[in-house]
Amino acid sequence: MKVTHNGKSKHYRTVWFDKTNNQVQLIEQRLLPHQFKIVSTKNYVETSQAIKDMVVRGAGAIGATAAYGLAQGAQIFQGNGIKTFEKHITKVYRTLASARPTAIDPINAMRSMVTKMAGQTVATRKSQALALAEQFADDDVAYCQGIGRIGEKLIQNGTRVLTHCNAGWLAFVDYGSATAPMYSAQARNKKFHVFCDETRPRSQGAALTAWELAQEGISHDIIADNASGHLMQRGEIDLVIVGSDRTLGRTGEVTNKIGTYTKAVLAKRHNIPFYVTIPLSTIDWKLKSGLEIPIEERSSEEVLRAWGVTDSGRRQSVSIANPSSTARNPSFDVTPPELITGIITPVGIFNPNQLWKNRAKLGYNNKK
Ligand code: MRU
Repeated sequence: MKVTHNGKSKHYRTVWFDKTNNQVQLIEQRLLPHQFKIVSTKNYVETSQAIKDMVVRGAGAIGATAAYGLAQGAQIFQGNGIKTFEKHITKVYRTLASARPTAIDPINAMRSMVTKMAGQTVATRKSQALALAEQFADDDVAYCQGIGRIGEKLIQNGTRVLTHCNAGWLAFVDYGSATAPMYSAQARNKKFHVFCDETRPRSQGAALTAWELAQEGISHDIIADNASGHLMQRGEIDLVIVGSDRTLGRTGEVTNKIGTYTKAVLAKRHNIPFYVTIPLSTIDWKLKSGLEIPIEERSSEEVLRAWGVTDSGRRQSVSIANPSSTARNPSFDVTPPELITGIITPVGIFNPNQLWKNRAKLGYNNKK
């Protein structure tokens, strides 16, 4: 999307590849909204660390970053031996896949690359790897545009939308999943309002979604995570649109940022439509139960402390909790299908219980 920075507007993707230097280029998301900066990772280990440290975050964005990381890993291999190449790629794959365990996009992206490279010479696989990573990134953009076209119809003049965390363009390569319908509605001159959940502990809603919407001139308010029930009760929210880090194709269960389940329960209680947006790369066709999804538990420091910028512009972390207390920090939760009105995909809106039945349309591939 377009970023206005230092008085100039320029179109950016969240992640892209610098072929000349074999480097991945990333928007440094931890500094937003206060500073806009591009950083590079020189090898797959640095790329994996950037995913782990959340320089880049969001399912589609880390999917593309992992894909580029795998291409970086392929490039550095010396020699022609297929067996040693495959051993090397397995190590690269495992390093990148373990950086963030919950989102399925990195795994889907890298698995499909490895499958497509099978049977080729080492030289061919090395050149194929980058082309396949670029393809994943381009597909991610096209999927999000498709979600925008389909989901935009849910937003009318005057609609008040609630969203959680950041399933915006920063969480993908471009456009976003939950925000794509908003960007399409804005392009059609619809006038609507968005409530962004703050999304503690890392505040992706307050920092990233709000920044994106402000860049696009979309009317919005940041709300504390606990305020949505009250607003629903007073009739101030018409529609909920969220993203997902992993949606189970067999059961319709949706993993998303911690707090999503709470919003879904509240929406059901107040008869407010609750939609989940997903590109096809976010579907996990293997797992048979939400209980099998690895839920990342991040550092308790994220709960006990908060990052911010002082009035003089200094970025700092401050203690916000009782110093002798411990904390739990599960980063994602699972919303069951009965709380979900529909899953917006680039190929249509589906009842969450009908994903498996529609698997052919939704890109299910037995061989993946
Ligand atoms: O921990 P994050 O910021 O990487 O979490 C991912 C998310 O931003 C959300 O869960 C989002 O709603 C889905 S990602 C498209």
